[in-house]
Amino acid sequence: MPHSRRVLVVGGGGREHALAWKLARDGAEVLVAPGNAGTASTAENVAVRGDDIPGLVQLARDRGVDLTVVGPEAPLVAGICDAFTAAGLRIFGPTAKAAQLEGSKIFCKQILHRGDVPTAMFQEFRSVARAREFLEAREDVPVVIKADGLAAGKGVFVCDSRDEALAAVDTLGRDPQLAKAASGILIEERLDGMEVSVMAITDGRTIVTLPPLQDHKAAYDGDTGPNTGGMGAYCPTPFINSDLMAEIEERILVPTVHALRRSKVPFQGVLYAGLMLTAQGPKVLEYNARFGDPECQALMVRLDSSLLDLFDAAVDRRLDDVAPPRWSEAASVTVVMAAEGYPGGVEKGRLIRGLDAAAAIDDVVVFHAATRQTPDGIVTDGGRVLAVTGRGESLAKAKLRAYSAVKEIRWPGGWCRKDISDKAFDHEHRIAAAGATTSAPQPEIGG
Ligand code: AMP
Ligand code: GLY
Repeated sequence: MPHSRRVLVVGGGGREHALAWKLARDGAEVLVAPGNAGTASTAENVAVRGDDIPGLVQLARDRGVDLTVVGPEAPLVAGICDAFTAAGLRIFGPTAKAAQLEGSKIFCKQILHRGDVPTAMFQEFRSVARAREFLEAREDVPVVIKADGLAAGKGVFVCDSRDEALAAVDTLGRDPQLAKAASGILIEERLDGMEVSVMAITDGRTIVTLPPLQDHKAAYDGDTGPNTGGMGAYCPTPFINSDLMAEIEERILVPTVHALRRSKVPFQGVLYAGLMLTAQGPKVLEYNARFGDPECQALMVRLDSSLLDLFDAAVDRRLDDVAPPRWSEAASVTVVMAAEGYPGGVEKGRLIRGLDAAAAIDDVVVFHAATRQTPDGIVTDGGRVLAVTGRGESLAKAKLRAYSAVKEIRWPGGWCRKDISDKAFDHEHRIAAAGATTSAPQPEIGG
């Protein structure tokens, strides 16, 4: 394939490594800003930070970039797509206004309401005092307390009791880092069920739904410990069969895209629905305006057709015109290897050993999430360090491959969850135990 296209990926985590890896396989010449030690092996790293929007516009101009793809939410909410479009540059991602779907949980709820999309009931408050009054006057039931704005994963508190909820509201009021995000506070009905991720690429009118995944947000095995950015993902998840996927498209994704358009905030980019599969059906927990991390890594190794073509079609508003993406029959499992202390503070600069041995295993891709090249070798550079991804003809084989690669890699304090994708196996065992006549969703490969 000729290297005719130059694509810029903005960001420096595992998601961006996976995007750069796939776009390079699609024949693009890829720049990553700022990237990490892993992206350097598949693309050219450029030392411009993701929050330096004028610097990124300049870079795209100087280097003749003809498509830019944005990984993280912060530059989207800060208006990177508006700035690129104003400069006459093509970019895949939502405008700042549309990115409010992720940037403001209150805006998100308004859109969901407008589209009649199922979600948790909620009340919105503009002060800690009002939120406290509401909690004190209400019966003591489990609720979820959320800051309206972006809070780097620190703005959501799932509470068992009124006391916990009051403490959460006080934390939002007290933490100076959360002050801006918590200028609005939501008190939500707490939903029960299985949590899954469904993403779609959209040009504002047409959606292309991607295979469903499951992330693992709790730090430790068995979904215990603190909340994290995501400790691992697998694809596809058996919790969503084709009937349920059709329902999610019809009742959730399509009405959301239409409600955005009717509100004069057309959304182009990745629409990521965090869903709870409740006894009353799927409900939206949150929307993100970008690919999930580590979901993106588990998706990219299964995408056989061109990602570049999908991005181009979305940017040019002709998604209704492209062939549906082709997905590998294989399943995938991504295991995040984290630094000691994550999701709290971590020490950086630990030398990582065994990367080559891990990458040499068939059907394994070691995506880098926070690494840096030094004269001594590749070192850790953050909390979530690697996203080790295995592929296999079954989920069990994909899991085996991912963990055999994990076994090759070591640095002092490095750790991971050992049970990524086990929920899918438990589910399959329950179905098997219930006999062949069950009506529960069957695992499905191919999305
Ligand atoms: P969010 O950032 O809104 O997705 O919230 C982070 C996490 O909190 C989600 O991934 C869920 O695990 C949990 N969560 C959020 N909202 C609810 C809810 N209404 N009921 C139960 N859990 C929730
Ligand atoms: N994996 C969760 C997220 O990207 O927000």
